[in-house]
Amino acid sequence: MNIQRFDNDEALSAALATAVLESIVATPALVLGLPTGRTPLGLYRELRERSRGNRIDWSEVRTFNLDEFAGLDPSAPGSYRAFMQAELFDYVSIAPGNIGFLNGMAADLKAECRRYEDAIEAAGGIDLQILGIGANGHIGFNEPADGLCANTHVATLTEATREANAQRFGGDWRRVPDRALSMGMSTILSAREIVLIATGGEKAEVVRGMIEGLITTRLPASILQVHHRVTVMLDRGAGRSLSGVD
Ligand code: F6R
Repeated sequence: MNIQRFDNDEALSAALATAVLESIVATPALVLGLPTGRTPLGLYRELRERSRGNRIDWSEVRTFNLDEFAGLDPSAPGSYRAFMQAELFDYVSIAPGNIGFLNGMAADLKAECRRYEDAIEAAGGIDLQILGIGANGHIGFNEPADGLCANTHVATLTEATREANAQRFGGDWRRVPDRALSMGMSTILSAREIVLIATGGEKAEVVRGMIEGLITTRLPASILQVHHRVTVMLDRGAGRSLSGVD
C-alpha cells in the first residue's frame, strides 16, 4: 500500500481533488467509484469549487456510488443519492445518465444488485475507486463478519453503522434503515486503482489494522492489501497509530 500523510483534512482533500481532476482531464470518460459520508466532504467541496463555470468538463465522466439504503426513495433527504446530488452532482457538468446508483426502492433488490454489476461491467469497469473506512473496518457496507460477499448484495447494517449514519435521520439511529445495497469485495477490488481516505483519531486503530495487520474478514478493509494499486491518504489523527509514528 502506498501511504500518504497530510497535516489535516483540507490538505488531504485538496491533494485528492487534484488527482481526480487531473485524471478527468487525461481521461474524459473516466469511470469513478464514489463514497458518501463525512470523510469525502472536503473532496466534494474542492471538486465543486474547482469545476465551477465548466472549468472541468464532466460530461463524459461516469460514476458508480458504493452503496445506498434499502427502502429509501432516491429523493429522500437521508438517501445517499440525495447526499451526492447536494455535495457534487448538482454542481458539475456530469450527464444524469452517467450517474450509476443503486436503487433502494427496486421491487427486486437482488435483481437490482445484478443490474448494478452489469452496469459497471458495461462501463468497462471502475478506473478509480475512492473509499472511506468505517471505525469498525467496513468499506462500502461490507461489515466485519465470518465471511464477506464478493458481489453487490443486500447488506444488514450493524447498530454501530446505523448510529454513525443517524445524523441524516434526525439523530435517531432507529430511523436509519437496517438494510442497504452495497458493492461487494470483488466489485471493489476489480477497480483498476483504489484510494482510501481516512481522517480523525477515531479511525487510527482501524487504519493500523488495515495496513499492518493480517488480512481478515473481521476488518474488511484489510483485504485491500491484496490489490496492486492502493493509496491510503491519512491526516495526522488517522495515521497516528502506525508504527514508526510518535
Ligand atoms: C459510504 C460508505 C462507508 C463510509 C464509512 C466511513 O458510502 O461506503 O463505508 O465510507 O462508513 O464513513 P465516514 O466518512 O462518515 O466516517
